[in-house]
Amino acid sequence: MKEKSIELLNRAIADELSAVHQYMYFHFHCDDQGYDLLAGLFKRTAIEEMLHIEMIAERILFLKGEVEMLASAEVKKIHDVKKMLKMAADMETSSARDYNNWANECAKNADSVSKKLFESLVEDEERHFDQYDVEMENLAKFGDNYLALQSIERSKNLSAGTPPE
Ligand SMILES: [Fe+2]
Ligand SMILES: [Fe+2]
Repeated sequence: MKEKSIELLNRAIADELSAVHQYMYFHFHCDDQGYDLLAGLFKRTAIEEMLHIEMIAERILFLKGEVEMLASAEVKKIHDVKKMLKMAADMETSSARDYNNWANECAKNADSVSKKLFESLVEDEERHFDQYDVEMENLAKFGDNYLALQSIERSKNLSAGTPPE
């Protein structure tokens, strides 16, 4: 039944690749708008998703499968910060749900290592969701002031010579 695991692992790679592309796109635009905190969060999360791809690919190769490396979705050209955070939180929720289901499927097929891999990914995706959720709450609570503060912080860092992330 390793074919089923390979198929699920490749579907995970496709979603992780989409997340890397989307979060880096958000990173560029937050950086361009001067929102250093959010730009840094999207970049760090994209890097974590890339490390997920590496772990999943290693498992596929161990199972003697092929790593497909096809993104599951095109990048959405969203420039509004509130919409970015909403989309990112939704992506994390659906990844966590899929990986939970796929962990169960791998368990049914007696592939406990792939099951454990999916379970460890669920933990990371839930943490990512939480990070985006906190930022959405901040934005709802403080509104435009929250974004203005990030721009001011950048100006302070620039004048102090501190490089952005
Ligand atoms: Fe991930
Ligand atoms: Fe994630």
